[in-house]
Amino acid sequence: MGASMVSQFAKPTGLVGRFVGWIFANRGSNVRRSAWTVGLLKLLLRDRVLEIGCGPGIALKACLKRASEGTVVGLDHSGVMIAQARKRNLRAVRKKRLRLVTGTLADLPDSEPPFDKIFSVNVIQFIADKKAFVADCVKRLAPGGMFATTFQPRGGKPTREQAIEMGKTLEALLTEAGLSQVRTQLLELKPVPAICVLGQKT
Ligand SMILES: C[S@@+](CC[C@H](N)C(=O)[O-])C[C@H]1O[C@@H](n2cnc3c(N)ncnc32)[C@H](O)[C@@H]1O
Repeated sequence: MGASMVSQFAKPTGLVGRFVGWIFANRGSNVRRSAWTVGLLKLLLRDRVLEIGCGPGIALKACLKRASEGTVVGLDHSGVMIAQARKRNLRAVRKKRLRLVTGTLADLPDSEPPFDKIFSVNVIQFIADKKAFVADCVKRLAPGGMFATTFQPRGGKPTREQAIEMGKTLEALLTEAGLSQVRTQLLELKPVPAICVLGQKT
């Protein structure tokens, strides 16, 4: 995959970005790994949920369905993705059950109430300082809250080993950040599996 396409996956922009958003929303492996991740979160009816790098809003839709009396925040630094997520979840936005924010974690106000669940799907590979990212997420979790991050290697020649290695790196970071019950789950997918690393704030 060329560098310009990789940058579109990291931050979709313009017309190409709109097409990339369509891929995120329709490619079988994307849809399956998002649904799988949301399932692993074991959402409760009134949970407050944050997705970082929500893309076109597929996982947000699943969260809104499961936490049907809860509230959801979708964060993405791509305005093109936020527009697609809004269109896909317009009713929830109008009912104020879904808030969409263009930006990164640092753009959420300090006054933001803590979240019961915080997660991301295929975003962690774009985060340069993963240790700081995990620590920031943990800070924003309510006691008992759960953090989950999913990764499926893509582009170039993805391998199963890349998924396993990322799982080990993330397990160490979540443990270092003070989370308990840290574990890695694996979903067999084409071309290579996705892993999700989860942990709980005590
Ligand atoms: C590969 S896409 C994945 C989208 C969606 N989660 C999915 O699995 O289909 C990565 C998304 O994360 C967003 N993103 C990357 N780094 C981010 C950051 N630091 N903060 C917020 N969004 C970010 C990108 O704009 C893009 O929409």
